[in-house]
Amino acid sequence: MVVAVGADHGGYALKVLVVEQLRREGHQVIDVGAFNEERSDYPDFARLVGRALQEGHAERGILICGSGVGACIAANKMRGIRASVCHDTYSARQGVEHDAMNVLVLGGRIIGYELAFELTRAFLGAQFNQVERYIARLKKVEALETERCL
Ligand code: RB5
Repeated sequence: MVVAVGADHGGYALKVLVVEQLRREGHQVIDVGAFNEERSDYPDFARLVGRALQEGHAERGILICGSGVGACIAANKMRGIRASVCHDTYSARQGVEHDAMNVLVLGGRIIGYELAFELTRAFLGAQFNQVERYIARLKKVEALETERCL
């Protein structure tokens, strides 16, 4: 699978390991940075990962910041992006199957690399279940993107 991966300085160290592991497991990784531990801003990497999905360059995205929270908030501002912090494998799999989650967000200061690898496997190994009620909910989520919810 083609996966876009991005992280700020808080997620950089974990991103290095996740990118290596994804490549070992046969995925094609688009690494959008950061490429060092210098202070950076998570919305910049959320934007790059989101754009990779919106433009069809990647099928899924993985974002890592310190807690996962900031990158998740930023990514969900983008049309068509359904991101969530998942630090348990049930949610990482079920978020795709029921909710069509397309970006997994991790907290690089919260979890270790072995759990991160398990989470990416659960996320990338899952597919959206084309069940009527899940499709109907997804359409309601998409409607929120076009409504003026201000
Ligand atoms: C950076 O210090 C940190 O605030 C950021 O990575 C993230 O945790 C925000 O949610």
